[in-house]
Amino acid sequence: MTKQTLTHANGAPVTDNDNSLTAGPRGPVLLQDTWLLEKLAHFDRERIPERVVHAKGSAAFGTFTVTHDITPFTKADLFSEIGKQTEVLLRFSTVAGEKGAADAERDVRGFALKFYTGEGNWDLVGNNTPVFFIRDALKFPDFIHTQKRDPKTNLRSAEAAWDFWSRHPESLHQLMILFSDRGIPTDYRHMNGYGSHTYSFINRDNERFYVKFHFKTQQGHRYYTDEEAAKITGKTRESSQVDLFMSIEDGEFPRWDVKVQIMSEAEAERFHIHPFDITKVWPHGDVPLRDVGVLELNRNPDNYFAEVEQAAFTPANVVPGIGYSPDRLLQGRLFSYGDTQRYRLGINHGQLPVNRPKSAVNTSHRDGGMRVDNNGGQQPNYAPNQQGAYQPTQDYAPPLALEKEALHFNFRDYDADYYSQPGNLYRLMDKGQQTRLAGNIAASLGEVQSEAIVQQQLAHFRLVDEQLAQAVAEKLGLPGYAANR
Ligand code: HEM
Repeated sequence: MTKQTLTHANGAPVTDNDNSLTAGPRGPVLLQDTWLLEKLAHFDRERIPERVVHAKGSAAFGTFTVTHDITPFTKADLFSEIGKQTEVLLRFSTVAGEKGAADAERDVRGFALKFYTGEGNWDLVGNNTPVFFIRDALKFPDFIHTQKRDPKTNLRSAEAAWDFWSRHPESLHQLMILFSDRGIPTDYRHMNGYGSHTYSFINRDNERFYVKFHFKTQQGHRYYTDEEAAKITGKTRESSQVDLFMSIEDGEFPRWDVKVQIMSEAEAERFHIHPFDITKVWPHGDVPLRDVGVLELNRNPDNYFAEVEQAAFTPANVVPGIGYSPDRLLQGRLFSYGDTQRYRLGINHGQLPVNRPKSAVNTSHRDGGMRVDNNGGQQPNYAPNQQGAYQPTQDYAPPLALEKEALHFNFRDYDADYYSQPGNLYRLMDKGQQTRLAGNIAASLGEVQSEAIVQQQLAHFRLVDEQLAQAVAEKLGLPGYAANR
């Protein structure tokens, strides 16, 4: 690096960066030491709000390469030809911990992708699990409050977590994954990613298909037991960050096979599972996985704050050929991410280099805090206008058929089976996996004081699988509990 002169923010040279300007060698500092004032003032404002969830994360840039043709289903530019490459940013995270939390915690992992496509940014903001704890966005703030710190003790609370889960049987499927071996991946390379929600694909004939996205790790799966994780956390809080950063520095680029499950609108209508229920998977036997491409991470960010902390992902960012679905949890997310980013980063966060699309941005949005580009120059800031500037495209999505009546419909009245898929998952596990699952659940449920919560949760486990309920009860010191109920 060439030697450069230290400057003030205005570019003028700094004369002394070791000694403040004082009245005599023992005297006080003068107010006119503007370098001291500028340096302290900037430092005083260094912190921005951390993400309200997924605060602790690591990211890398890379490429997505198409290997198989899916153009019959989507006209999205990034899938338009085999061999086509698109630059991506992938940010991994844990969910509940704060920005300084340990990486090796039992928690869901975020898997947030930004594809810098030729027609704008597509963000697929997923997790390392194909399902989620809840089905309605209205419940997200309550759920997250139970995962964060108790208002009085300022401690994480198993009591609050299980109080919530035991009242929401739709959380069982995600709980079975969270407390299984897959609940503590050793790092971010050795786990899958999922879009989790159902999204839409729209093809050139303007036909809609429903789609789920899967990212299968080529590195294989690796997990820590609770005991191993405790040892790692005792040594380092940064186990996943070190692993990702160093593997890329060493030229060992992690890869994921990208696959999709696709259904037509007519198939979705007839499907035996609610196709927009994020607490359920589409069994692969019913809807097979199709190969699409390969995702590779091959470049570490140069600056963590600029390229990772300031990165803003939102499921609302879609591109032509990709759309939403009626999933009510997804619908809530379409609002929440942009909203939090307007608070966390500001109204003009889309102009930050990491968030700025590689394609043209032509909007009539103007002004606002920290506008750093030319603010639309002399282009009209209204429409329609005589110059004909900024025409909306005629390339619209097909109509989405909706039901008519508006009501606060309770999805549990329509869809009460939250037990079959968790049960099937349990029965797929080998004996060792089942035993560790029960042990991990009991380790957490054992911290709960309320007998009523424990009993309610055991009753749910019993509906998942009698044997699971019995195993958890035994580990809790309640042998015969489930069998006797
Ligand atoms: C981050 C809200 C469900 C994955 C966030 C953030 C908010 C949020 C406010 C912080 C964003 C930021 O500061 O930039 C919600 C709401 C949900 C929901 C309201 C339900 C209604 C989900 C689901 C998934 C998910 C179902 C995965 C399938 C993520 C990920 C991040 C995140 C990966 C971190 C993004 C990053 O790396 O910057 N969520 N979330 N969330 N959420 Fe959600």
